[in-house]
Amino acid sequence: MMKTSTKSHSPTSTQSLRDLFDLDQQVPLLDGSLGPYVNFDNAASTPPLRVVQSTLNRFMPWYASIHRGAGFKSQLATDAYETARAITLQFVGTDPRTHVCIFGKNSTEAINKLARRFQFPKGRDVVLVSKMEHHSNDLPYRPLAKVVHVDVQRNGELDEFDFDYKLRYYSGRVGLVAVSGASNVTGLINPIHRLAEKAHAAGAQILVDAAQLAPHRKIEMGPLEDPSHIDYVALSAHKMYAPYGTGALIGRRDTFETGEPDLRGGGEVELVTEDTVLWSSPPDRDEAGSPNVVGAVALAAAIRQLEAIGMDKVAEHEASLTAYALRRLRQIEDVELYGDSDPSRARLRVGVIPFNLKDLSHFLVAAILGHEFGIGVRNGCFCAHPYILSLLGISQEETERVRAKLASHDRRDNPGLVRASFGMYNTLEEVDQFAEALEKIVRGEYLGRYVQDAASGDFVPEGWEARFENFFTI
Ligand SMILES: Cc1ncc(COP(=O)(O)O)c(C=O)c1O
Repeated sequence: MMKTSTKSHSPTSTQSLRDLFDLDQQVPLLDGSLGPYVNFDNAASTPPLRVVQSTLNRFMPWYASIHRGAGFKSQLATDAYETARAITLQFVGTDPRTHVCIFGKNSTEAINKLARRFQFPKGRDVVLVSKMEHHSNDLPYRPLAKVVHVDVQRNGELDEFDFDYKLRYYSGRVGLVAVSGASNVTGLINPIHRLAEKAHAAGAQILVDAAQLAPHRKIEMGPLEDPSHIDYVALSAHKMYAPYGTGALIGRRDTFETGEPDLRGGGEVELVTEDTVLWSSPPDRDEAGSPNVVGAVALAAAIRQLEAIGMDKVAEHEASLTAYALRRLRQIEDVELYGDSDPSRARLRVGVIPFNLKDLSHFLVAAILGHEFGIGVRNGCFCAHPYILSLLGISQEETERVRAKLASHDRRDNPGLVRASFGMYNTLEEVDQFAEALEKIVRGEYLGRYVQDAASGDFVPEGWEARFENFFTI
């Protein structure tokens, strides 16, 4: 029945959470067999919910140009797009009278837009970010402001003393605080409302990069008169089971009512003469060109499903996976865990587990997991280099050595970690499979003779040919 269902429903068990997805694909393994795929790379991207696909199947015959079309289909598609906007606003607990939802490609685009559209008050040229940020919540500010990094503690948590200190040190100069809701490296969740209260007391506004938080926790931006409200949130639909190219910037309407849009073109103007432009009101002013209607509908369908399940239930299931995985991994002697590895604190984080195996390259561990066990993880620095360097305790001198090798296109010794990250459809059985695979790798029980490519750093087993055409062609 699930396969044909087009409605969101509220499942009651782990199995029914899994039934919300189409996850029956078998992948080729090095021993020549086919095996089920265990996707533990959800922090990067998530598979689509069935209901997202079925909603799009229902929508596609009605797809038409939006906003400017006079025909019925155009009006229907416009209504679907604007409904998706309303659903997204409500998902993060905002009031459409004070906030707008601007659709774009992803969190990166959302944050770049805010960086360019934020009107730094005179003298307030500092953006306070943390050292745990994804580059997407750090690099966009660098050409526009003085970016100051708040330190992290040895266990990976934000150093709130340093946050307070830097707010005081740059008193009167901080225009914007920009922090991740949850880390894509350690899964640690930041106390966003407490930081918001401090930022507001210091006369600044706050952006929460919710790329990792939104798929796992309820977000309440709150009313502007609440001192702990969040001014801006950025999220990515492809991390929320709706991978159709949409992201959103939800933010204070007043910010987007004035100033010029960062991209110029059609769809965002009231009147243009040869030498004047009258810009539209928000959110149109910030959505130049034809928008991704399909992506917005997909995001809204995913939100409806997440809400039907209940974010508390999602969080509870993922915390049980995380606690169980940490318990299993802590029993494997050669596993080195980073961040907070206490299973009893699994509820205080999202399901992202960074680790290394003693004396084995992160490149190699990830390759063996994929090629021999059908387990998809990610390895490297996860677009958060300062955080990884800090977690690994890599000195300035060592960093310079890495830089020199990179200059000669040699990534073999790049520092990094392996990351397993859970989605709501993952199961305890998959965690068992993963832990057993790691135990085998530690014992040297793997088949391949792996060769490392200097330019990418990746390991590939000798004789391996992927033959993707046997699985998918366009
Ligand atoms: C915390 C965080 N912020 C921002 C991003 C960027 O997201 P996107 O690639 O969807 O723009 C990511 C992606 O992994 C992330 O984990």
